[in-house]
Amino acid sequence: MIDPIIRDRAALRAMVTPWKRAGETIGVVPTMGALHDGHLSLVAAAKAACDRVIVTIFVNPKQFNNAQDLANYPRTEEADARKLERFDVDAIWVPDGDQMYPEGFATTVSISGLTDCLCGATRPGHFDGVATVVSKLFLQTGADKAFFGEKDFQQLQVVTRMAADLDIPVEVVGCPTIREEDGLAMSSRNLLLSDRARVYAPVLNAVMENVAAALREGAAMADLLPDAMKRLERAGFTDVDYLELRATDGLALLERAEVPARLFAAAWLAGVRLIDNIAV
Ligand code: PAJ
Repeated sequence: MIDPIIRDRAALRAMVTPWKRAGETIGVVPTMGALHDGHLSLVAAAKAACDRVIVTIFVNPKQFNNAQDLANYPRTEEADARKLERFDVDAIWVPDGDQMYPEGFATTVSISGLTDCLCGATRPGHFDGVATVVSKLFLQTGADKAFFGEKDFQQLQVVTRMAADLDIPVEVVGCPTIREEDGLAMSSRNLLLSDRARVYAPVLNAVMENVAAALREGAAMADLLPDAMKRLERAGFTDVDYLELRATDGLALLERAEVPARLFAAAWLAGVRLIDNIAV
């Protein structure tokens, strides 16, 4: 059976209130739709840990800093609902822009520090948009647990910080990145890759794995970057927004993997921005 699709804030509240009253744990999986197995792994984790599960689908205009990127973002609601059927979730929350940001909406949730680097530096305003919509989704759903992918590691950290700072009583749960067989991290944006670009897209992860292996042996980023950049260029990546080693905890920039660290990358392939990160 297709799970109930809710489009109205009052209907969502009416649904959630008795669950809360009965003491049931509510899990939320925030998404922008175009669901793939990465998203579905979060849904499975939520189903395993919670009495009730709400999947949210909202392509959040406030987190796009490029009108074309927003216009191109894949929207596949019917297929998404079908993919969710086998999980038997309790609700799919699909607000439209007016439900989420009614006229007069004037509040922004902004996290400092953690958002200065990586995607925060290359996509100004992006994490304000994420934090604003995610705080609303937490409050709208009354979630006890919220499931986010490590694929967007900085986002996971930002959302965790935001919930703690604002005393939102939700536990943020991080889940591992799900990949295609060739190593490409699953992403809704992969749908935008041409057949040719799809062939070269896994080079990003392959290069990162090579760099990570050398870092584990004690190498320094400065010595590894020239070759890594050359390999990405040869595969057709035009701009590399960043390829950086950062501390897992707090995201400070590192030259060597002397503390628990992750390698982060964002790069453009044939007009599509791909991101990935792996533990070093
Ligand atoms: P979206 O890109 O749709 O991703 C929704 C959730 O799925 C995020 O937590 C993301 O990290 C996770 N995810 C995406 N690809 C994954 C993969 N390959 N493996 C595991 N998890 C994966 O991230 C957003 O939407 C938005 O910023 C949102 C949080 C919904 C706020 O608008």
